[in-house]
Amino acid sequence: MSRKPSVLITGASGEIGHALISRLAAGDPDRPIVTLDLNPLPPESAAKVRQAVNGSILDTALLDGILAQYEVDRVYHLAALLSTRSEFSPALAHKVNVEGTLNMLEFAQKQGESHGRPVVFFYPSSIAAFGLPGLAVKAKAGKVGEDEYNVPTTMYGANKLYCEHLGRYYARHYKQLAAETMSGKVDFRCIRFPGLISAETVPSGGTSDYAPEMIHAAAEGKRYECFVRPDTRIPFMAMPDAVDATVRLMEAPRARLTRTVYNIGAFAPSAAEIAEVVHAAFPKPDIVTKVDEKRQGIVDSWPADVNDSAAREDWGHAPVYDFRSAFGEYLIPSVKKRYAGG
Ligand code: SER
Repeated sequence: MSRKPSVLITGASGEIGHALISRLAAGDPDRPIVTLDLNPLPPESAAKVRQAVNGSILDTALLDGILAQYEVDRVYHLAALLSTRSEFSPALAHKVNVEGTLNMLEFAQKQGESHGRPVVFFYPSSIAAFGLPGLAVKAKAGKVGEDEYNVPTTMYGANKLYCEHLGRYYARHYKQLAAETMSGKVDFRCIRFPGLISAETVPSGGTSDYAPEMIHAAAEGKRYECFVRPDTRIPFMAMPDAVDATVRLMEAPRARLTRTVYNIGAFAPSAAEIAEVVHAAFPKPDIVTKVDEKRQGIVDSWPADVNDSAAREDWGHAPVYDFRSAFGEYLIPSVKKRYAGG
């Protein structure tokens, strides 16, 4: 039982969760962290949290138990099926990505009602929320703003876009016909992430995975068949900057926020440019192109870059790593270390 203001992280054993737990445990050690994931937490993360609950966001009895036990005033709802995985099981994706998010928003609403303070709710959306109709439009569109091309082609993108709206509904319009004002108990804050690249973990089930897979395969000395054309371009970000942005948005004064959903960008290399830096860094990487037309179609529907001026103005988004330094100072040295001797 902890009545101390606590943090709840769902999907905590995923890539963002791994990096976020380290950051939160170091930055705010007095705020207990509770995690919820189907998979057990890796031991280094488990050592940093108060309680790691093994279970599903679809299990409302389990959520009620957490609600009774903790005074949660921050939620990081990271659990989701990513874009490639979701195309194989769209109904399951909807259940996890949409019903799961609804459960977590209800959880936050109930927490907010019970302790009387808004629950700050972080929701990671994605460039998958965009859907550009073709390569000519993509080339012309350049840096896409939050409200443009919101016509995703994937189940995952549709799920994310809808949940952005659900979050805005809970924050601003929840039960708008009730006699008393019920909204405002959930302080919903959302970032649309670009493809994320971590040196510590490898992604599973995403469509932007070609970038991290290329680097990790080269470091392990394994052959990599890149599933997109060399000229394919989408925005990417190094994981430390993604976590910085998350923390920065969560700490921003509410009054500074003009939107509930923010694009963030850092760099936007082509697959060929990524392969080039990997070639320069590793002795003999074995990278070949073997286009998967279907996954290529998904990446082609995502923007070449994003306009993130609202994030920069409202809460000071300022990524540390550009393309060269992300690879030269973070990814390549850390990935080399990770696989050294292994
Ligand atoms: N980048 C992840 C994917 O490709 C999540 O948005 O699915």
